[in-house]
Amino acid sequence: MQADQRKWWKEGIVYQIYPRSFQDSNDDGIGDLRGIINRLDYIKSLGVDIVWLNPIYASPNDDNGYDISDYQSIHPDFGTMADFDELIQKMHQKGLRLVMDLVINHTSDEHIWFQESKKSRNNPYRDFYLWWPAEKGKPAARYSYFDVNNDAWQYDVHTDSYYLHYFSVKQPDLNWENPKVREAVYDMMRWWFDKGIDGFRMDVISYISKDTNFPELPKKYNGNFLPFYAQGPTIHQHLQEMNRKVLAHYNCMTVGEAPGVGLKEALDFVDEDRKELDMFFHFDLMELDRKPGEFFTMRQGGFKLSEFKKIHTDWDAVFSKKGWGSIFLSNHDFPRPVSRWANDHPKYWYHAATMLHTFLLSMRGTPYVYFGDEIGMTNVRFDKIDDYRDIGTLNAYQKTIKEGGNLQDFFANHKESSRDNARVPMQWNADKYAGFSGVTPWIPNNPNFINGIHVAAQEKDQTSVLQFFKKMVGIRKKHLTLVYGQYEILEPDHEQIYAYKRFDDRNIFLVVLNFSDTVSEFHLPAETQEAHFEIILSNYETSDHEINPEKICLQAYQAMVCKINT
Ligand code: NOJ
Repeated sequence: MQADQRKWWKEGIVYQIYPRSFQDSNDDGIGDLRGIINRLDYIKSLGVDIVWLNPIYASPNDDNGYDISDYQSIHPDFGTMADFDELIQKMHQKGLRLVMDLVINHTSDEHIWFQESKKSRNNPYRDFYLWWPAEKGKPAARYSYFDVNNDAWQYDVHTDSYYLHYFSVKQPDLNWENPKVREAVYDMMRWWFDKGIDGFRMDVISYISKDTNFPELPKKYNGNFLPFYAQGPTIHQHLQEMNRKVLAHYNCMTVGEAPGVGLKEALDFVDEDRKELDMFFHFDLMELDRKPGEFFTMRQGGFKLSEFKKIHTDWDAVFSKKGWGSIFLSNHDFPRPVSRWANDHPKYWYHAATMLHTFLLSMRGTPYVYFGDEIGMTNVRFDKIDDYRDIGTLNAYQKTIKEGGNLQDFFANHKESSRDNARVPMQWNADKYAGFSGVTPWIPNNPNFINGIHVAAQEKDQTSVLQFFKKMVGIRKKHLTLVYGQYEILEPDHEQIYAYKRFDDRNIFLVVLNFSDTVSEFHLPAETQEAHFEIILSNYETSDHEINPEKICLQAYQAMVCKINT
């Protein structure tokens, strides 16, 4: 199968909802399923096609639902199974599809499987998890994201053994080498598909396979655990089995979260002929502004646009003939794109946010839009530890204190990098809690909603970020060239402007984006100098455009989509 073979999940636009923060319907300060049901008309009005919900399952919430204690029940904070059934039915009536989060690298330590597993060394569930008997000494080091000491081995006195947890101590890793684990997971997946869901976003799916001898981290990884975790010996065997036994039987889409998977390994996961996944999220962009190997520490001096462009260009090339990419600028684990990749200063905010919309919706690959980005929500930048809720930031704080680190640096970093930047409530209107809830939300609002960064104001204003978003969605929908057409970068080394062509037999589009706060020039390629340019979308007044046969002059954060008629 070729990359341009038509599929609904290639042509669709995904809208990601973090349910805790989207809409509270029962005034407990936590978003819920009924809140989403009440907002379906809004979601539909955006022009998106597919909704991805972060986990809504039973969970003690050590990691906000990524620690699941029962895969087949709904967390009471979010409502009931009846609410879920109503949600899916109403979504389908409106022509929206539903993708659920599938967290199967680990469970909660409160899951019945783990409760059993830790009871004794010969419990039938013992091998559902990865245990290391203490008499063999301490196992070789493994890194944990959410452990204060970054130690992924937790000693359990009751059975005198260590268990593995790549994430928090309350998120023990499942043993994918145990066929009983795999079958139990497949049964659960079928159960959700039979309920009518349209796909799964698979949490850290690249990590599920482990060499259960737990050797020392091989030298070639040079201390970098990400690719090591992603290159488990049986990963493709497991994904192919899952495809054969479950996915192949449904008209579904799958997108894997794949930290550690690089350009070289990409097609092993998504080449259609291998029958594994449809798409995955790579991490090259998400790591671009971070200190290498550190999740929350910002890289000194920021990133260069040429690097940002190279990442997208290289990844586009990988999927140009086979497989399919996913395009995203943010999600629940990363800050708001306008604050991160452009500029949220009020002087630039509108142009910066709309420029990023233009980018996201004009690239090849399925676009993923994180809720609130459509109205240009910005980083909240909490400066008090009491405002933060995320285990990642709270652990890092404890670690900083324990090690006598610099708290000023800590806040400087987390104001830009904390996951809580993206987890504050959706901004619906100018009411007290931005229309999210009638009571104090589980995490404070970003106070800037009163400055017009809310849905009600932007729905009324034809020149808002939201309206621009919808226009750009409309343009992508109208032109399949923007979905399947080839991508060709122009002037890759330009440090202010990102320009590229999208083309096929039907159309040629030129997208020109100024990623800087200064007026910048871009030289048109020779072959287009004689052409007729039709500007089909711009985030400045058309009269502000200056196009002459050789060059285009762009204002700060200006974005233009032109159709080239030769
Ligand atoms: C990736 C998820 O996106 C993140 O939110 C979570 O903390 C980890 N996986 C662990 O499940």
